[in-house]
Amino acid sequence: MPTVADMGTRIDATPGVPAPEAPGHRPVLLHQLIENLQPRQGHIAVDATLGAGGVTSALVERVLPSGRVIGIDRDARAVTAAQLRFAGHLDALTFVKGDFADLDSIVAAAAAPVVDIVVFDLGISSLQLDDAERGFSFRFDGPLDMRMDTASGETAADILRTRSGAELAGIIRDYGDERFATRIARRIVAVRREQPVISTTQLREIVEGAVPRPLWPKRIHPATRTFQALRIAVNGELERLESGLQAAIRILRPGGRLGVISFHSLEDTLVKNALHVAAQNCICPPQQLHCTCAHRATLSLITRRVIKPDIAEIEANPRARSARLRVAEKLDESG
Ligand SMILES: C[S@@+](CC[C@H](N)C(=O)[O-])C[C@H]1O[C@@H](n2cnc3c(N)ncnc32)[C@H](O)[C@@H]1O
Repeated sequence: MPTVADMGTRIDATPGVPAPEAPGHRPVLLHQLIENLQPRQGHIAVDATLGAGGVTSALVERVLPSGRVIGIDRDARAVTAAQLRFAGHLDALTFVKGDFADLDSIVAAAAAPVVDIVVFDLGISSLQLDDAERGFSFRFDGPLDMRMDTASGETAADILRTRSGAELAGIIRDYGDERFATRIARRIVAVRREQPVISTTQLREIVEGAVPRPLWPKRIHPATRTFQALRIAVNGELERLESGLQAAIRILRPGGRLGVISFHSLEDTLVKNALHVAAQNCICPPQQLHCTCAHRATLSLITRRVIKPDIAEIEANPRARSARLRVAEKLDESG
């Protein structure tokens, strides 16, 4: 069950006064997200990935004073930072340390049976990425942790210590789309016979040694894909996203909108498929002449084509390069 950090607590408000900017994390595709979600006064909005609070801030400006925002993050530090950032400015915020896979129970516990808006801005925040102690980045020397929720679960070092070479190769290939996955996994296994692989620098050097130098990718560091793969495995990101999306569809009121920003193709493909299936009245195989599935559409797609950042945003914020936005609207099930 999620841990409720500030369930239902009303914080003193000065409606209309924006919260101060949080340093370090710049939300991507924010304008397009807000334009498509259309948050309004009185709406109940859920920010399922609170992070540094950039999206929450934009929602707060539009739905308060008569509406509410519920902000969720697995990372206790994001929740604490949000409580500080918004304290004194808002009268209707609920911040929860929890997993968006448990969205239904979190939102029910916050006494909001249905909501108008749900946002997922996936991945990790710059605050997490730039903190050497979290172990998300090969740019800093730090422990190979990579857990969003530092209170539970296996670290990246645990995975590197306990999985077989074949299992490691599978993780790196499937979640990192890394063509040298087998070579990297073999090298991890060889190194760990001599010493435990526990730091970001060790892993970076293992990957640099495993990938032949002339074949290093041009635009990214050769360790980028391996670090991404481990992070996805450590945090069970794809499984949680699947559950979170289904829960979001359940808790939206008819006419309510769901927006998802993803940062790599595995996420975007999962989001695209989930939204497209939910937007269809029949999911029988195309060769079947008569429908037997009884599936009914629960969503309509607002963004028929995925929205990408423009050149100006990518130049101003290179992290935006791979961002993709999809938005859908909940249908009235009574037809
Ligand atoms: C890209 S950041 C969000 C940034 C935020 N929108 C902003 O404007 O500052 C993603 C956040 O989602 C959180 N997160 C990722 N997976 C999660 C999950 N399954 N449940 C709850 N939070 C999650 C991460 O800990 C991280 O803080």
